[in-house]
Amino acid sequence: MKVSASRSLAYLGLGVLTVLAAVALFRWGGMHAGVRAALDVSQQQEEMHGASHHRPPTKGSEAYQYAYPRRRLPAEAVYDPTPPPPTPIDQKVHEYELVITEDLTHEVAPGVEMTAWAFNGTVPGPVLRGREGDLMRIKLVNHGKLPHTIHFHGIHPAEMDGVFELVPPGGEFTYEFVARPYGVFPYHCHSMPTNQHIHNGLYGMMIIDPREGRPPMRELAMVMSAFDLDRDGEADFYAWNGKAFQYADHPIELEAGEKVRMYVMNIFDESMAPHIHGNMFNLIRSGTALKPHELTDVVSLGIAERAILEFQYDHPGPYMFQCHFTEHMELGLMGWFQVRDPKINRAARPTRGAVAADRVGN
Ligand code: CU
Ligand code: CU
Repeated sequence: MKVSASRSLAYLGLGVLTVLAAVALFRWGGMHAGVRAALDVSQQQEEMHGASHHRPPTKGSEAYQYAYPRRRLPAEAVYDPTPPPPTPIDQKVHEYELVITEDLTHEVAPGVEMTAWAFNGTVPGPVLRGREGDLMRIKLVNHGKLPHTIHFHGIHPAEMDGVFELVPPGGEFTYEFVARPYGVFPYHCHSMPTNQHIHNGLYGMMIIDPREGRPPMRELAMVMSAFDLDRDGEADFYAWNGKAFQYADHPIELEAGEKVRMYVMNIFDESMAPHIHGNMFNLIRSGTALKPHELTDVVSLGIAERAILEFQYDHPGPYMFQCHFTEHMELGLMGWFQVRDPKINRAARPTRGAVAADRVGN
């Protein structure tokens, strides 16, 4: 195509103008970036203080971050994260009784109560523990108004699977099976609608130790779940061991250098991602191995999946443990390990600043 010299010049002029305009806009943008950032920050602060609701905070933000000072969960209401110790090696039979009730007032988050269905009056139910090859004998007593069951994961006969035989109100049934294999397992009610029976609180963890046991360590049992209080299909609170933020209000104390074994299980209909801060853990998937599968700091657990996390903290201080799904964390699935220096007197437990000073001093 033939283009005249004058038209070429005109296009060139237009091009130069365009470039100049672009440079000017870019510089204006650069100069104002700081101002815009400041505006964003002030808007965020406004939102935090409730003055502006252009972008409403999440439910979790309201519950935890933006509503301080809120009510704290009383210490006596905290679910003890310590599982029962391993059973004696010659015990052979492991007997439990689980009583179901449907009228437990359960403080699912500080100041937020729900009526839960529970095994032995807690959500989650108690941690059951046995040893590979031993007999598990678990008696279910139904004090509710609806039929219930207990379904255990693991290898056992169909009639002990807790699916077919419903235990009527006022009834009882004893499940018996040989514990195998070793690992971490969920147990939960399997009455229909199962979603409702589990959601309302009828679940717990069962630990089956290997025949020869695992090396002794400080142990924690942590069930991840969630609660949809208004039944709108979206969880309102997520929790370690049934109560949102309980280990934020009451951190779990560890000692630097202490070996920790954390049994973790997800019993909710969403994927979870347990994560510990400032550390890595040896991951034993499903608890069904003696040697770790992986060294990592986060693991994905689909519904009913579980794992053993083994770790130790080298440095004192507060470390968050959370679900890495940020909404789950903000809605309650977080807590703190307060790792203290074993050389420092318990009464003079270091604060955040003191820990830093102590480190400088070393
Ligand atoms: Cu049930
Ligand atoms: Cu989660």
